Amino acid sequence: MPLVNTIEMFKKAYEGGYAIGAFNCNNMEIVQAITEAAKECNSPVILQVSSGARKYAKPVYLRKMVEAAAEDTGLPIVLHLDHGSSFEMCKECIDDGFTSVMIDMSSKPFEENIEITRKVVEYAHDTSKHPYVTVEAELGTLAGIEDDVKVEHGAESYTRPEDVEEFVRRTGCDSLAIAIGTSHGAYKFRPEQCTRDPKTGILLPPPLRFDILEEVSKRLPGFPIVLHGSSSVNQEYVKIINDNGGKLVDAVGVPEAQLRQAARLAVCKINIDSDLRLAMTAGIREHFNQHPEHFDPRQYIGDGRAYVKQLVKHKITEVLGSNDKI
Ligand code: G3H
Ligand code: 13P
Ligand code: ZN
Repeated sequence: MPLVNTIEMFKKAYEGGYAIGAFNCNNMEIVQAITEAAKECNSPVILQVSSGARKYAKPVYLRKMVEAAAEDTGLPIVLHLDHGSSFEMCKECIDDGFTSVMIDMSSKPFEENIEITRKVVEYAHDTSKHPYVTVEAELGTLAGIEDDVKVEHGAESYTRPEDVEEFVRRTGCDSLAIAIGTSHGAYKFRPEQCTRDPKTGILLPPPLRFDILEEVSKRLPGFPIVLHGSSSVNQEYVKIINDNGGKLVDAVGVPEAQLRQAARLAVCKINIDSDLRLAMTAGIREHFNQHPEHFDPRQYIGDGRAYVKQLVKHKITEVLGSNDKI
């Protein structure tokens, strides 16, 4: 099946009260793990590529691996640029066959965000040059690193619901990423923002700002909302990593129940990267610890791939609710 854009996927997700997983990929094993999991769950899926991924693996390898996964699985797959940082980068990806792009001007002033997003939308929607490419934009800033832009905890800004109608009308974007308290990476909240579970010692984070999400969706009825920074930092993988020589202290993510709740509302795309990294690292660390004599990459990366696949199946069925939606 050829790669698809997000229009139909998000329409069905919005109406069905579920979300599509947008998983970051950097290499073949991650692409295979995600798409094999989606295939076994009969789920649509978004594979997204950051500029860091493009630097690491080269754009042509990533595009061809995602095309191979679509051919291999027959699934509807979106190839999406994650955190596009300029018009030129978005144009390059559109010209290269991406079916969806994000232009992330969220760190810029409102008018500049509108101007550059509008320019990307005009190019992406111009079907005289290529098929219709969907555009995700962002309002509000998340703590953590978004490619080159680092936002310290405490300096993040929630999306202002009163801005969203004007932004969507003037840019023509197809979906909107908002900031409601998620952040990038495996350390989403500072310990002082959390309480500590007295039994396990694990940090319990503050709740997401569902009031903002609800106000945004009231102002944009039927419009697809995106959540970045939505890894849950599943503690079973953190434990495997730490039991096998790793050192991840106070890593904490967004509770899965809150993401499930967001998926029932207007959130149609949930971005997950850090959880894949943790699963891959858990598989590889455990393998090395159990088999110090091994040196064939297929053995240890194969175990990492199996853990990523298991994690993606869990996300699809228990968090996103996108299983059996094809
Ligand atoms: O939003 C950030 C994603 O996790 C991508 O991370 O820029 O290290 O590839 P990266
Ligand atoms: P996590 O770091 O929570 O996985 O977020 C990934 C993301 O938002 C990619 O754009
Ligand atoms: Zn992101």
